[in-house]
Amino acid sequence: MANIAVVPAWLTPPADVNELLPQLWARTVGRDEAGALHVGGTAVGDLARTYGTPLYVVDELDFRSRAVAFRDAFADAFADLCGGADVYYASKAFIATGIARWIAEDGLHLDAASAGELDLGLRGGILPGRIALHGNNKSRAEISAALQAGVGRIVLDSLAEIDLVAEMARERGVVAPVMLRITVGVEAHTHSYIATAHEDQKFGLSLASGRAEAAVAKILARPELHLLGLHSHIGSQIFDMGGFEVSARRLLELHQKVERDHGVELPEIDLGGGYGVAYTSEDKPLQPVEIAGRLAEIVARECLVQGIAVPRVSVEPGRAIAAPSTFTLYEVGTTKEVELEGGTRRRYVSVDGGMSDNIRTALYDADYSATVASRASTATGVLSRVVGKHCESGDVVVRDEFLPEDTTAGDLLAVPGTGAYCRSMASNYNQVPRPAVVAVRDGAAKVLVRRETPEDLLALDAG
Ligand code: LLP
Repeated sequence: MANIAVVPAWLTPPADVNELLPQLWARTVGRDEAGALHVGGTAVGDLARTYGTPLYVVDELDFRSRAVAFRDAFADAFADLCGGADVYYASKAFIATGIARWIAEDGLHLDAASAGELDLGLRGGILPGRIALHGNNKSRAEISAALQAGVGRIVLDSLAEIDLVAEMARERGVVAPVMLRITVGVEAHTHSYIATAHEDQKFGLSLASGRAEAAVAKILARPELHLLGLHSHIGSQIFDMGGFEVSARRLLELHQKVERDHGVELPEIDLGGGYGVAYTSEDKPLQPVEIAGRLAEIVARECLVQGIAVPRVSVEPGRAIAAPSTFTLYEVGTTKEVELEGGTRRRYVSVDGGMSDNIRTALYDADYSATVASRASTATGVLSRVVGKHCESGDVVVRDEFLPEDTTAGDLLAVPGTGAYCRSMASNYNQVPRPAVVAVRDGAAKVLVRRETPEDLLALDAG
């Protein structure tokens, strides 16, 4: 049997290699009588034939039900405290016009971190007043686009930006609604690349250094800016609510100081996003109702301690809405077996995509799961590594999974949880065109983003 050093402690050989763990798969995913995967009433074989592989397959009902679950959970949990709370979908996770349309129809707000994300949000029909513009180094063009559209808030990230946005608002003769991103000094328990509230990183104005307070004073002195409130985002893929608690407490302390020192009662507060999702059997994500309930308790208690009225709360989940809705469908190509120390073996299963459609494994040491999607198998599970087609050995999609011993060329393989930060971070490494994104619902499929073609890539080449 596999030795401990090779098989991660959390990964156990499955009793049934065809099992679909509910926490990993979008809600309408299942297997038909022959064992092939279907989603949204559509067989994966049909999707592969029609749209090709690799393919991102979004379960529309799953995406929208998570979005609505967050919307409702926060509205309910904060109803008595501050008349509800607003959920901004963090579009960096994944955005297309079709996604923005769902967000608009389902009554969420949008967090945009660039002019491009803002543009797609507007194209999808999200009202500008429901959009926040973020960024630690927004360009003049981005600030201008935000002011032109009339976004609901620009989240200011530096002292220099306060002057820049104020000047640009003055030139236009408008008052810009702004929030201030605070670095609260929390060490979030996640990969260092996606932790964002400790002191030594690029985002926000730090509490500890006094820059946050200085920034508040600076904003309040500018009549072209209307300060809505303070903002903090501590990181991403976080399961422990402790970091959110410390962050909320520190934000509310500053909120109270602003009231005391400036006589200004800020109307809002934004607690950011970052809620973790399940990528493997070991991940146990909190449900929106639990998250909203915990945050409401924390905010209520801290406001009481500080003796302040509860400001209107907003949050910015991206991954927790998008990731679980989507799986990537690949076709298996070559396979090979490698003998490892201690007599164990590892099966390498190559697929027709890789780090160009999912960089997260290589970049963040992220773990994923996989299953053979085109059929059920009666074979036993063998320790496997799903790798891509790119020219480096770090091109790994799923580092460790038990796949059926008979997994072979031509099989379709599905990797769940790829709805966030996969297509949005995809690249053209090795001049590989990026995959299409297709949404399925009630037996119908529609393309959200079409597959890139070699001609698309050549169109950029100056010749
Ligand atoms: N709000 C702000 C200000 C953010 O910077 C982010 C994520 C979010 C909300 C949404 O966080 P979420 O709920 O999705 O965790 N590429 C990395 C994640 C980077 C997250 C950046 N900011 C990854 O693939 O893990």
